[in-house]
Amino acid sequence: MSETTTSPSLAETAALPAVREIGIIMNGVSGRMGYRQHLVRSILAIRDQGGIELPDGTRVTVKPLLVGRSAVKLAELAARHGIEDYTTDLDAALADPRWEIYADFLVTQARASALRKAIAAGKTIYTEKPTAETVAEALELARLAAAAGVKTGVVHDKLYLPGLQKLRRLIDSGFFGRILSVRGEFGYWVFEGDWQPAQRPSWNYRAEDGGGIIVDMFPHWNYVLENLFGEVKSVYAQAAIHIADRWDENGEHYTATAEDAAYGVFEIDAAQGPIVAQINSSWTVRVNRDELVEFHVDGTHGSAVVGLFGAKIQHRNQTPKPVWNPDLADDHDYDADWAEVPVNDVFQNGFRQQWEEFLASYVLGTDYPFDLLSGARGVLLAEAGLRSSAEGRKVELPALSLD
Ligand SMILES: NC(=O)c1ccc[n+]([C@@H]2O[C@H](COP(=O)([O-])OP(=O)(O)OC[C@H]3O[C@@H](n4cnc5c(N)ncnc54)[C@H](O)[C@@H]3O)[C@@H](O)[C@H]2O)c1
Repeated sequence: MSETTTSPSLAETAALPAVREIGIIMNGVSGRMGYRQHLVRSILAIRDQGGIELPDGTRVTVKPLLVGRSAVKLAELAARHGIEDYTTDLDAALADPRWEIYADFLVTQARASALRKAIAAGKTIYTEKPTAETVAEALELARLAAAAGVKTGVVHDKLYLPGLQKLRRLIDSGFFGRILSVRGEFGYWVFEGDWQPAQRPSWNYRAEDGGGIIVDMFPHWNYVLENLFGEVKSVYAQAAIHIADRWDENGEHYTATAEDAAYGVFEIDAAQGPIVAQINSSWTVRVNRDELVEFHVDGTHGSAVVGLFGAKIQHRNQTPKPVWNPDLADDHDYDADWAEVPVNDVFQNGFRQQWEEFLASYVLGTDYPFDLLSGARGVLLAEAGLRSSAEGRKVELPALSLD
């Protein structure tokens, strides 16, 4: 018996969904974030599942172009993951209309100049945070993009953590009553690099190379606080270089010039009334909590402790009535007063979730809230935090606009 292949009939062809392939320049793909979160966990995962489907039935597929400084590294990465395109020539990539989106995962210091070029080339922008080292530069980028009419997106990954999505639902359900305060604990011990290699790049500990935990984490805290609770109005921060002696990737000693811990107090202007948030960020803390980041939220009607994945709650009706008595050992099991929030949703990697939303927004032409102006507010909080620490005072945050 002979097999025959038949081409789809006209009616069948008309029923096929439209496919839109988006070419994405991925710059800095050999780095920690670029490789693991953006290339492997996001873009390649989207590619391997056959793209994403939009509500109108359009299928959006992705085609990455790897960009970096080492052709050898890029060739190895491309071969490992079955990627056709890579180059060390960013300018040529930007000049090529096949690539619609420019995505940036470079060290913070190299970002602004690359974004400026990509905006000038008319590319849609998707970038890691912080978007720049100074608020002046971050705002300039947001304004350049607005003037050029290019869509922009900035990584807001913490909002996609399952624990924070559960918190979002708790807030939306009115569980807390009036929210009073937020206590955040972020951090873990990063080895100095002498007797065990450090698990973060050494530039993180050098201010002159764009390092420091304030520049790294305050942009996250800004969008977390702003999107869950309300706009941050002021910051008081105390930065510390707790460990000055560190050893780099080559085992060479260097003196840390950027803070490895920051203790911050943030005033939030919420519709329901003011909220006080305190967040400790530290690479010099040994973990004694369930997860590497935890937020404890207290409200008049209930409280919650959420982490990357978990969330536990205590309603006012479950709240014990402790009495302070230093003469008596307290055998009350405070942990037992909390109930786990069940996992009612399927959560996927947050970086990938945000990529999918951004791609959909780009193709459909809808407004995208996590843009370069939002990124600039994150840089503003970092800059104000550093100023607060240097001057030993609370710093008010001005409203930023594109005008
Ligand atoms: N969203 C998050 O949770 C998160 C977490 C960590 C880091 N980050 C941000 O991601 C960015 C990258 O951080 P990382 O930890 O992946 O750093 P990394 O050092 O692992 O990678 C940096 C990348 O930039 C490239 N690079 C370095 N110097 C360069 C230069 N002068 N010109 C061009 N390219 C250069 C490197 O080759 C590498 O590809 C930083 O801006 C950082 O703040 C975000």
